[in-house]
Amino acid sequence: MSGKPSKPVAASAIEKHVYKVFPNDMNSHNTVFGGMIMAKCDRLALVVAERHSAHVCVTAAVDSIHFRAPAKGNDTLLFSLALNRSWGSSMEIGARVEAENSYTGDTRHILSAFFTFVALDERDKPVDVPEVIPETAEQKRRYGNAQIRRQGRLKTRKQLASSPD
Ligand SMILES: CC(C)(COP(=O)(O)OP(=O)(O)OC[C@H]1O[C@@H](n2cnc3c(N)ncnc32)[C@H](O)[C@@H]1OP(=O)(O)O)[C@@H](O)C(=O)NCCC(=O)NCCS
Repeated sequence: MSGKPSKPVAASAIEKHVYKVFPNDMNSHNTVFGGMIMAKCDRLALVVAERHSAHVCVTAAVDSIHFRAPAKGNDTLLFSLALNRSWGSSMEIGARVEAENSYTGDTRHILSAFFTFVALDERDKPVDVPEVIPETAEQKRRYGNAQIRRQGRLKTRKQLASSPD
């Protein structure tokens, strides 16, 4: 670790934030609209990034969004988000959404995704953020894997910068 300030993962994490599905959340296929779930993940990931950095943050990239199962009417969605790793001004936040049948207690894994946020200073320039301290075995595993994903992301960023698309 460097001489940078540091914070544990738990200081910014969101554990099972509850959202009750109502009929206005459904798509025409009568399952929960995926865009609503993604928007809520982005909003909650922002809270994690801003808690950790204590700065205004913006979404720089979202990757590996996988909808693993549909959520249904009457389900209760449970959003869990945690900071996997930080570098200079950027942070990777992992999101996991489960759908709970609140009558039976059964849960299903609905979505996983990774969000990259960048902290900005008063002039909207990227600013350094604290390091994150992974404490549990799972947090340490995510911390290690985040570095591999970052390399892929930065490669994609470079390719996009030189592509007309
Ligand atoms: C994200 C943004 C602030 C980066 O600004 P920039 O001038 O390119 O800054 P830099 O090149 O110095 O990159 C800053 C950090 O972001 C990271 N970054 C930038 N784009 C990235 C991407 N696509 N994927 C992953 N990381 C990225 C860099 O790796 C760097 O990380 P580090 O400081 O931890 O090493 C800028 O591209 C931006 O404002 N994008 C629009 C954000 C937005 O409007 N989001 C939607 C609404 S919130």
